[in-house]
Amino acid sequence: MKIQIAGTGRFLPEKVLTNADLEKLVATSNQWIIERTGIHERRIAAEGVCASDLATPAARQALEAAGMKPEEVELIVVGTSTPDMNFPSTACFVQSKLGAVKAVAFDVLAACSGFIYGVSIANNFIKSGQCKNALVIGAEVYSSIINWEDRTTCVLFGDGAGAVVLKAGEGESGILSTHIFSDGSKSADLYTPGGGSVNRFTPDLVSEKKYALCMKGNSTFKVAVKSMADAARVALEQNGLTGADIKIVIPHQANLRIVSAVAKQLGLDESLFYINLDRYGNTAAASIPIALDEVVRNGRAGKGDLALMVTFGGGFTWGSVLVRL
Ligand code: ACO
Repeated sequence: MKIQIAGTGRFLPEKVLTNADLEKLVATSNQWIIERTGIHERRIAAEGVCASDLATPAARQALEAAGMKPEEVELIVVGTSTPDMNFPSTACFVQSKLGAVKAVAFDVLAACSGFIYGVSIANNFIKSGQCKNALVIGAEVYSSIINWEDRTTCVLFGDGAGAVVLKAGEGESGILSTHIFSDGSKSADLYTPGGGSVNRFTPDLVSEKKYALCMKGNSTFKVAVKSMADAARVALEQNGLTGADIKIVIPHQANLRIVSAVAKQLGLDESLFYINLDRYGNTAAASIPIALDEVVRNGRAGKGDLALMVTFGGGFTWGSVLVRL
């Protein structure tokens, strides 16, 4: 029995925020953003639109592609670090919006690695017989935790959602391996200080913008490159494969220079790596499932091809999923 990706979906908000728009907000330039990140534009959710609003249409599309009805879904895992609320989980909101009445639903908090963590968890749930299928979603509204006066972070992120349906099936297709890792000692390099029990909600928290994401970009960059390369290597080694066997690498879409450096460390051609960060920026946990859905729908990879997904995020967290589509 293999755990297969039976369907994929994505949803991006309509509003486009260009680098030219950001030039009007902070001391930055289109040239700096493109040269240092590769990002040209990103999508921003309208006021009042929350993570489950983006997750639900992405999930519907994935279910349609899998030929499944919401009532058949047994597990919903949402990777998000911008949930609708602290609780209930965004997954519970998605369950209700879909009408997936039979599903157990919960969130996974692993910043940008939330989707890969979710796939790993759902894969094990199905393998162990606890459920027959799962909807795994990455959904983020990072625009809600950005300090729009901080040029070092506000140019990087965007909003969106992507989803997959996993289910057991026969044949060659299926997940070959999942590897997930964490290092909490580096939490101070990438975090949102406020809103939890450390810095409780006070008027100061808002005036000091402690709800907003903080990142030491430079040190995070270096760890991201090494960690993503390690996660890719362990997937290849465990499966007795080399880069030559892989049809496509779908990396977390944080920065084009990170992707180039990972490709170099692995000795792989950059053209093997799928890129959409130029259009969407870093959509955190949504970035890999959005890219996967594009790859499947635009035919860049198809049935029987090996796809290697590699992630890195706050925590630090990182990992990989190797799948035969
Ligand atoms: N426009 C113009 N100048 C800028 C901007 C900007 N938007 N942002 C920073 N600068 C300036 C800095 O102030 C600095 O100026 P200084 O030399 O006068 O001090 C200079 O540019 C260089 O800054 P660095 O931070 O060294 O720039 P770097 O090349 O490292 O790029 C970036 C910054 C894009 C953030 C990069 O470090 C990066 O991508 N880091 C990793 C991001 C990542 O992978 N995060 C993990 C996933 S996200 C998650 O999990 C939530």
